[in-house]
Parts: sequence; C-alpha cells; structure tokens
Amino acid sequence: MAFWNRRRSIDTMLAPLDGPRMKATLSWPHLLALGVGAIVGTGILTLIGVGAGLAGPAVMISFALAGLVCACAALAYAELATVMPAAGSAYTYSYAVLGEMVAWIVGWSLILEYSLVVSAVAVGWSGYAVGFLEGLGMALPTALAAGPHVEGGLVNLPAVFIIAVVTGLLLLGTRESATLNAVLVVIKILALVAFVALALPAFDASHFTPFMPNGFGAPNLPFLEQFTGVPVAQTGVMAAAAIIFFAFYGFDAISTAAEETKKPERDLAIGIVGSMLICTALYLVVAAAAIGARPVASFAESPEPLALILREMGQGTAAQWIAASAVIALPTVLLAFLYGQSRIFLGMARDGLLPRGLARISSRGVPALVTVFTAVVVGALAGGMRLDELASLANAGTLAAFAAVGVCLIVLRLRDPGRKRLFKAPLWWLVGGVTIVGCVVFFLSLRPSTQWYFLLWNVIGLVIYFGWSAWNSRLAKGEETAA
Ligand code: ALA
Repeated sequence: MAFWNRRRSIDTMLAPLDGPRMKATLSWPHLLALGVGAIVGTGILTLIGVGAGLAGPAVMISFALAGLVCACAALAYAELATVMPAAGSAYTYSYAVLGEMVAWIVGWSLILEYSLVVSAVAVGWSGYAVGFLEGLGMALPTALAAGPHVEGGLVNLPAVFIIAVVTGLLLLGTRESATLNAVLVVIKILALVAFVALALPAFDASHFTPFMPNGFGAPNLPFLEQFTGVPVAQTGVMAAAAIIFFAFYGFDAISTAAEETKKPERDLAIGIVGSMLICTALYLVVAAAAIGARPVASFAESPEPLALILREMGQGTAAQWIAASAVIALPTVLLAFLYGQSRIFLGMARDGLLPRGLARISSRGVPALVTVFTAVVVGALAGGMRLDELASLANAGTLAAFAAVGVCLIVLRLRDPGRKRLFKAPLWWLVGGVTIVGCVVFFLSLRPSTQWYFLLWNVIGLVIYFGWSAWNSRLAKGEETAA
C-alpha cells in the first residue's frame, strides 16, 4: 500500500502487540501529578519575563489566548487518548487517522518539542539555581553559569548537571519517578501560591498602563519576509502569546503514558483536563500579581523574574525560598518530558519507523538506550543555547502536533461517529477548529528564524522517512494489517 494512505487500524492497535510491553502501574492521581508537574515550569517562572517584555502588561491577554488554545487542544487530546490508549500521543492518533506520512511529521515534531523543552527548562532551572547560590554567597563564575550568548559565558553547567540528574532518576524506573514527582508538584504549587500572597499586597494598578505598549501584533507571514523585504512584527500580544504558549503544554506528556495506566478511560480524562484547568487559573493570578507588584521593565530580562520581584520588594528571604522551590521542583518538568520523549521514540521504533533496536527495554522497564541518547543531545543544547530560542523552537514542534490532534479529532468524528468514546469533547467541531486555527496563528507569530529552523528539521525528517522509514515500517512490510 502506498505511504500516503497507509493508516494503522485502531482495533489492531488496541490488541496486544507482539513486541515488548510496559507494565500498567499508573492511575489518575499519578497522571494529574504528571500533568501539573509537566505544565508548571519555566514558562510561568521565567518566560513570563520574556512575554511581558514583548507585550507589556497585555501579556495577560497573551496568557488567556494561549490558555484558550491549549484548553481546546487538551480536550481533543483527552478524547483521542481514551479512544487510543496506546503509547505515542499525537503521533499515534495521526497514524490511525491521518496516515503514516503525517504521523511521521508529527512524531518528528514531537521529538523536537520534547527534546527542546528539556533543554529550555534546564536553562530556566539554571537561572534560579545560580540566583539561589548567589543568595548564599556562592556565586558561580559567569563562564560556567551561562552559554556563549552572555558576555563572559562559556557553558551553562548547571543546566547540563540537572539533565544528568533527571536522566539518572528515569533510569531507576517509572514508578519511583512518578511518586517523587507528586511530592515535588506540591512544592511547586505552594511556591506559586506563596508568591501571589506576598506580591498582591504591593499591587499597584498604575503598572498596567500603558497596557499594550507594543500593540497587538497581527499574526504575520514571516516566510514572505524573505521575498518582500517587509520586516515582520516581533513584539506585541501575539508574539508574546506564541512564546508564553510554552507555559501551558505538558498535559500531552500524560497521554504518552496511556499504555501504563490502569484504567485509561477514566484516568486520562481526569489527568489531562484537570491539570489544564488548575494551571490556567494559577497562571493568570501569578501574572497579575507579578505585574501589579513591579513594573514590567524591571523583570522582563531577568533569568529568575519571580525571585527578582520579591527581592526588589525587600523580601529577600522569600525570594530565596521561591528560588529553592524552583530548584527542587522544576526537575519534575524535565522528568515528564524526558519520559515522554523516550516513549515517542519507543512508539516509532515499534512501528518500524525507527530502528527496532531502539525499543529495547531494560530490566527496570525503561527504554534505557533512547533515554541516555536523548539526554546527551539535550544536555549539549542546554549548555550553549538561549532560553527564548529553545522555547520558541519547542513551541513550533508542539504547535504542529497540536494542530494535527485538532484535525484528528474532527476527521475521526466524521469518519467513525459510532466508535466508543469514553470521554467526548464538548462542541467537538469548535474545539477542533479553535485548536487548528489557534496553532496556525501562533506558529505564524513565532520569529522567522524559528519557522525556518522548524522547516529545516522537517526536511531532514522527510529525507529519513523516504530514505528508510517508509520502506521499513510494519505496515510497509505487511507485519500489521492496515486500516
Ligand atoms: N509548560 C512547561 C514549562 O512551562 C513546558 O516549563
């Protein structure tokens, strides 16, 4: 069968595979913790500064827009994850609904997303860790505390260090990591609540004017910039929304654990939708409290904006506590994404799109080879790259995957309306439509260089697909019956 209409059958997918399987050890509290653990991270702790720098106080609108698109994507994910509770997330759904080639592009984009999120969050962690150590009078030399983009910087050693630690945790096994994750999530939420409680009494409404100093910034067509020479808007509410989007995703990491959940139909819906709701509410309050406490310009450039705000308010001890919480708890995000990354690889290798040797699972039930390989690559990137560049490119990969999930939701409803759906997205056509349009608009609001890098990544991916994967997939070889 030709690659463009090769689809996996959902029914075959749900039947036990003959390859290695993972143990079902997780239930919804684990997933909720995995979700909130993956969502709350560098986005709200650090990129809030970058976003506020781009949009001014109107970054509140950027938060709301990004939250809206992610909430719709979360609903689409929840429905599809209960139809297909198999490891692989957007990639798996696309394989069954849109065919092998689209699935490849989505899987390849997810590899970009998950890898770069790990790098970006490690850089965010480093910002708070370096500030915390400074607070203790143990300043690291700049050469070892930041990449070459900072004057005097050479390598971001703390970022590399934390990736090494989290990799070790994952290699010890899923169950232990998920339980530790739950404890750390509580610390992270408490830190944000404490920040709001301390910042709100200093609320000054005058910090909200001018509200939109850089305008709204229409979504642009940066690809055209190369040909027309007309520069694109790189500031404003939309540019900020496209980067702040980073703060909201992570719930998709839950669906990659679908195969390991005890009751996927109940656990996935609660985990995905619940974690999204908790985080959106929290972010809006934190953003309002931060801007109310200090003018945007004072924290926009900081590698540790929330700690800086407290320090400038004369709350040095509280700033140290916030930094300590970030240092202790941010690794949950790394844990979830590094975990998700290895599962995407695993899914693609099992389907024959990547070499099957990659799917080997260690005696502790972990795909060790993939985990270590990923950690080495993302560690190198974290050591040398800027946070906003890493986050933008991670967003590009995520937006592609989310858009595909929106399309999958709509196509599957139309093609197979009678299929059993344990969780049904309300107003599915609207939810799917907002997801697709929102992702496209956000993608067009990313900086042009990010869009080009994303395109380049996918060109490389398609060369691999047509050079190897399209001929070696299980469906191509007839090892599995297509839909
Ligand atoms: N949402 C995650 C974070 O903000 C990726 O760190």
